[in-house]
Amino acid sequence: MKILLIGSGAREHALLYAMKKNHPDYDYFAMPGNPGMKIPSLEEAAAMELKWDLVIIGPEDPLARGVADDFRKKGILVFGPGADAAALESSKIFSKNFMQKYDIPTAAYKEARTYKDALNVLMKFSDPPVIKADGLAGGKGVFLPESINEAHSILEALMVENLLGSSGSKVLFEEKLEGPEISFFYLVNKQGYKYLGSARDHKRAYDGGKGPNTGGMGTYSPVPDVDEKDMKQIDEIMERTYRGILAENMDYRGVVFIGCMRTKEGLKVLEYNVRFGDPETQVLMARLESDFLELAMAVAKNELIPEVLLKDQVALCVVLASKGYPNEILKDQPIEIGNLEEDILLFSGGTSLLDGVLVNSSGRVFSLVALGDNFEQAREKVYGSIDRVKFQGMWYRRDIGENLI
Ligand code: AMP
Ligand code: GLY
Repeated sequence: MKILLIGSGAREHALLYAMKKNHPDYDYFAMPGNPGMKIPSLEEAAAMELKWDLVIIGPEDPLARGVADDFRKKGILVFGPGADAAALESSKIFSKNFMQKYDIPTAAYKEARTYKDALNVLMKFSDPPVIKADGLAGGKGVFLPESINEAHSILEALMVENLLGSSGSKVLFEEKLEGPEISFFYLVNKQGYKYLGSARDHKRAYDGGKGPNTGGMGTYSPVPDVDEKDMKQIDEIMERTYRGILAENMDYRGVVFIGCMRTKEGLKVLEYNVRFGDPETQVLMARLESDFLELAMAVAKNELIPEVLLKDQVALCVVLASKGYPNEILKDQPIEIGNLEEDILLFSGGTSLLDGVLVNSSGRVFSLVALGDNFEQAREKVYGSIDRVKFQGMWYRRDIGENLI
């Protein structure tokens, strides 16, 4: 079997780990991949006569561009939704309209397609609303202004100065919700869906949830405060989402990642992502007992998805970041990796080779993951191993999973 992973982050490395665990003898390739994955380079792949048995698409950009459709047109099996379904993530307006149509609980909202519209809509709010750029913005498209004045400046930056290019030319206003966030994951295709677990990300850069937003500095799974009531609600949310996917005739074969907030009125959906999360995948794959490749194949073939089995343990992930992240980073610093205990997983993200030396090349360089019988144990294992990885400027949050909400 020849399997192609599209993407280059620690998320893709975690997917690779989950497949290799059960199928070490298959051939794995990644595009563009990273040297920490220790699989053949694309140049080596190009020299072979390859016909992919399965393509797995990690990030949102290629999904939104229809790369899954392109491969499928050539008769290749793909884990990843078509562009029609990817719009659930790539257009926040499309996504909210979908939620409204299928009666999915979410924050009240208004859309604006021009700057003039946006100013009119803003006038109707007495408290500052959340403002979201409609298109993909790599996690930089959500704003929580503290005053109406600040909201005005944000609209001007997005819709007049084009801060985020065409992604910000339309905007969404949302009522501001409060409560803890929880992410839920499902595998889905034409035959149905299966629950894959919950996770919580730490999106802010610094300890105590301070500092700028990032792609995610650490995660844990499962989310211990998820109770039966939440599970009943999320099952209903997923059922309605699934009915919507079928009714809209979307070619959705992949993951539904539902970002929720638990408000006083129960769970509300903040967003859909049409892909695995990074670094949520690192903890989900660590906990996965089932054969991921078997699941992914069933999803891609539109066959009945087998039951998903998870270990009875918890998992915790800490991201090792480059100096400067989430702004401009200090890159090309040589990396040293010492011996890690057998049960510690090190997933490589922003690494590359410079004159044969492994160096850091983007903000989130590694994900260090451990399983434990409880979070304290998992935390001790991860934090006790961090000194095995060294590069100039490396930093990380010290409080992942400390206060579990
Ligand atoms: P999103 O990309 O839509 O998940 O938004 C990124 C982050 O912004 C979320 O993880 C929340 O922390 C926050 N956020 C988004 N929408 C809202 C909302 N309606 N009320 C409060 N916070 C929000
Ligand atoms: N960690 C958040 C995401 O992947 O969207």
